[in-house]
Amino acid sequence: MNHPTFEGQSTIEAPAWVKHRKLIDWVRRVAALTKPDKIVWCDGSQEEYDRLCAQMVEAGTLRKLNPAKRPNSYLAWSDPSDVARVEDRTFICSQRAEDAGPTNNWIAPVEMRATLDGLFDGAMRGRTMYVVPFSMGPLGSPIAHIGVELSDSPYVVTNMRIMTRMGRKVYDVLGEDGEFVPCVHSVGAPLAAGAKDVPWPCNKTKYIVHFPESREIWSFGSGYGGNALLGKKCFALRIASTMGRDEGWLAEHMLILGVTSPQGRKHHVAAAFPSACGKTNFAMLIPPQGLNGWKISTIGDDIAWIKPGKDGRLYAINPEAGYFGVAPGTSEKTNFNAMATLKENVIFTNVALTDDGDVWWEGMTDEPPAHLIDWQGQDWTPASAKQSGRKAAHPNARFTAPASQCPSIDADWENPAGVAIDAFIFGGRRSTTVPLVTEARNWVEGVYMAATMGSETTAAAAGQQGVVRRDPFAMLPFCGYNMSDYFGHWLKTGERLEKLSAKLPKIFCVNWFRKGGDGKFVWPGFGENMRVLSWMVGRVEGTAQGEDHAFGVSPHYEDIDWTGLNFSRAQFEQVISVDDAAWREELALHTALFDTLQQGLPAALTQAKRTLEGKLAA
Ligand code: GTP
Ligand code: SPV
Ligand code: MN
Repeated sequence: MNHPTFEGQSTIEAPAWVKHRKLIDWVRRVAALTKPDKIVWCDGSQEEYDRLCAQMVEAGTLRKLNPAKRPNSYLAWSDPSDVARVEDRTFICSQRAEDAGPTNNWIAPVEMRATLDGLFDGAMRGRTMYVVPFSMGPLGSPIAHIGVELSDSPYVVTNMRIMTRMGRKVYDVLGEDGEFVPCVHSVGAPLAAGAKDVPWPCNKTKYIVHFPESREIWSFGSGYGGNALLGKKCFALRIASTMGRDEGWLAEHMLILGVTSPQGRKHHVAAAFPSACGKTNFAMLIPPQGLNGWKISTIGDDIAWIKPGKDGRLYAINPEAGYFGVAPGTSEKTNFNAMATLKENVIFTNVALTDDGDVWWEGMTDEPPAHLIDWQGQDWTPASAKQSGRKAAHPNARFTAPASQCPSIDADWENPAGVAIDAFIFGGRRSTTVPLVTEARNWVEGVYMAATMGSETTAAAAGQQGVVRRDPFAMLPFCGYNMSDYFGHWLKTGERLEKLSAKLPKIFCVNWFRKGGDGKFVWPGFGENMRVLSWMVGRVEGTAQGEDHAFGVSPHYEDIDWTGLNFSRAQFEQVISVDDAAWREELALHTALFDTLQQGLPAALTQAKRTLEGKLAA
């Protein structure tokens, strides 16, 4: 067998700064299986990042953008078959099928391990295996957890350096025997000696595998986003949600923001919207003209780890250090803060290249440039697009940017103690039926709303787009265990907090996406969402009024501050109205979901549904 060499090291031993025996043994075992040519122990330095980027430019994986326009930034175009998360190839391999539950793909661990052994055998041949230590959460914080990703993708390494606290300092926290989540990733494209590589190696066969009991992740065949940056969805949601279940905390697909009222009172809100449904935008919102006394600060844009404090409040941290955000639709008008975050030190993936070496995507400017190279490397003009319908950027094109560059970053975003949550918001993308905003009257009603939430599918996952599916808590693709047990965990968390404190966070349900007869969004969204948020803050503070209806409490037209916006009573009616017939159909979908989730479904939720049905019938 070919023994891999260790860059910067003359022996198979790890560098002196790695003192963790079990970690070193594990790296050796994985190397013996995957047979890389070389092993690089990443230190997370700028020098290492620059070197890897230069190598990828050389290999054609990255293109360096014009430094005058976009300093220290790169563009990657992926293989056209590898552009989004693959939910049907994502597996939760708990010992018992019931523990994965009916909404996850399950395969018995022994069987999956045999499959993986076959797939990973020699999978890194001809490539370098990178050892990537990372912390989810501020280094050394009591809420943070450590992972180590072994990957044969330098694209993954550089993205992980932006998205997590990555590098040598993680070993100082780990010491000789600290706990870490082992994550193994291969693009699954071994290279024969002398063979020519492709810019974006990947494999038709894809497996994104989680072993929740042993807290391990194995990912094969994809180099893109959530499939490959294993700290994100695989660790921080699927594995962490099971850790949270066992240890009494929550790992959620939520943004976290601070909202300061014109009177200077600050609240914290965590909001769960499904993929590509507005978390990044909401987290960085700039209040519109007329509401400029309000201020929003950003703590996180995608994932929240939330732990109960002794005072009975819930404290949230953002386990990430960067944004892996949707590019299309992002503009100075819709998300000024994101555009400012993207000025430098960014990796763009699957956006278009301008003639002056910068990037462009649909929605970035009103007028598209006269000529571009699209994300598939083809010439693109507005005329050719009109004819062929080809997009310049893939709809799931993304930017990877350091959170520290965001102008609205909250002073507490790295506070290891987290921020106390005052309200949860759940929202889907629904053209019809679901009102702009509804407040749950109590915790159980809120959990019911979140559990039965539906949303139209987006380009963030491979598969059909625009079909309504149930996406409980925006966690359908990310819950590492049985969804009914997850509902139970939320209910129990509420009961536990209730015993400790008089005031649970309020729960709201929102929908920015109702459409009119012309097929256009009725609600202007983006910064204007501040109007809805300020109503919610008013409800938290006990000052705002609303109307009680079957599902909860929604604002009257008069309850919203319309200063600076022309939005008529009739338009408001279009986004807030509750249509009984549509809701009877909606309730049938809740029933179908509950039928699927029957086993272990908390009785409180079936009871909540019965109450609702009764109200609708009345
Ligand atoms: P993930 O990173 O996939 O988890 O997505 P996300 O929830 O962070 O979504 P993001 O904020 O990136 O928004 C996704 C798309 O929805 C973008 O194209 C946005 O421009 C668009 N969007 C965001 N907020 C609004 C809104 O209030 N109204 C409308 N109409 N579109 C919005
Ligand atoms: C999502 O799909 O919700 C994302 C992007 O945030 S990915 O990292 O690919 O999961
Ligand atoms: Mn997400």
